[in-house]
Amino acid sequence: MTQTRLLIGQTLSFESDPFQDGPEAATHTANGGVLIEDGLISKIGDAATLKSDHPDAALTDYGSKLILPGFIDAHVHYPQTAIIASWGKRLIDWLNTYTFPEEMRFHDPEFAGTIARTFFDLSLANGTTTVASYCTIHPESVDAFFGEAKSRGLRAFAGKTCMDRNAPDGLKDTVQSAYDDSKTLLDRWNGTERLGYAITPRFSPTSSREQLEALGTLWSEHPDCLMQTHLSEQTDEISWVKELFPEARDYLDTYEATGLLGEGGLYGHAIHLTDRERARLRETGGGLIHCPTSNMFIGSGLFDLGGLKSEGQTIGLATDTGGGSSFSMLRTMAAAYEVGQLRGRPAHPSELIWLATVGSAQALKVEDKIGRLATGFEADLVVLDLASTPAIAQREARATDIWEALFPTIMMGDDRAISAVHIKGEPIKTSL
Ligand code: GUN
Ligand code: ZN
Repeated sequence: MTQTRLLIGQTLSFESDPFQDGPEAATHTANGGVLIEDGLISKIGDAATLKSDHPDAALTDYGSKLILPGFIDAHVHYPQTAIIASWGKRLIDWLNTYTFPEEMRFHDPEFAGTIARTFFDLSLANGTTTVASYCTIHPESVDAFFGEAKSRGLRAFAGKTCMDRNAPDGLKDTVQSAYDDSKTLLDRWNGTERLGYAITPRFSPTSSREQLEALGTLWSEHPDCLMQTHLSEQTDEISWVKELFPEARDYLDTYEATGLLGEGGLYGHAIHLTDRERARLRETGGGLIHCPTSNMFIGSGLFDLGGLKSEGQTIGLATDTGGGSSFSMLRTMAAAYEVGQLRGRPAHPSELIWLATVGSAQALKVEDKIGRLATGFEADLVVLDLASTPAIAQREARATDIWEALFPTIMMGDDRAISAVHIKGEPIKTSL
């Protein structure tokens, strides 16, 4: 049993969806507090009341800093940590030139462990407390990820990336080994402490129809697992999928026809969707994962956040590191804002914070556990300094409400804005 903790500061959390209800969907308390018992939030409210009701709690006073639920990165490739910001290629060339050679190295458990440590150090330093990551085809890469997440007590999701074609020798599995290895890893890790397995066909170009079917069967046998893949990221990729699956109605159909469409399915990027694909995603409740820094870095296109959200899609936010150009969900929110501007529908700061917390939690099917400051939720928290650099501080000084105070940090902030991170209530070291 750990000690009762009381964190004091500004608090912000959502009671409903700001895309529907506007910024009033959030509750902001200028002098707020979060009471934590046994790693869970037991109360949130007014600082003075919580202090007088709980005089024995270990008190941390964050002053005017902002306590938020930890950020949730719903699509990331931890094996690409060391190749982030590799120059000049679009998706398929980028995979062949930079990604696949790097991923080959993950057969070595020691190398995989080193990169997993660096990855979690960087994510946590940026206030990200939960990720859903791809691994490589090597089971060792999955054990390295989950072993590291477990030792840090994190809620985390990942799976073995499956590919049986259009990848180099040494980076291919088979129909049978993809099924067998995924099943072994799923049995080992899914539900261990706060870890969850995501069945992971990389994307249709690198899986045969038979492999997609085998993984669809595995998902039907373990419907409590997530399933993650990529969908309609670049137009060249979509043309290639058409050639590889001539019988498919569209890209999504390659997943739909093989048992890989449904609730708990995470579809990364989802930029160039047809009306049929949008309708089927909405009907089945699959989660679309918006990766805006990646979409600009690899030159993929402009995600229709406003349109997709207003038609009722489930949407999470993600860095897509190393296709994405930052480990920071603040930089990712800024990119989502800019993509929105280019589409004529800028997201409000309440919508950006909601996507990085509740939205991603909904996509990952853990919206009853993380992503909000509310009684019974896991106390994975980030504390933001809203004046972390001189440029941000002088703008924040002019703010007249919480959104104006927060927006400069969203647009200009980075790991310097992360004052503290708590995992299951306990403060962790975030400096690298
Ligand atoms: N599509 C298939 N694999 C990948 C990947 O590793 N990154 C991105 N951005 N898109 C992909
Ligand atoms: Zn990706």
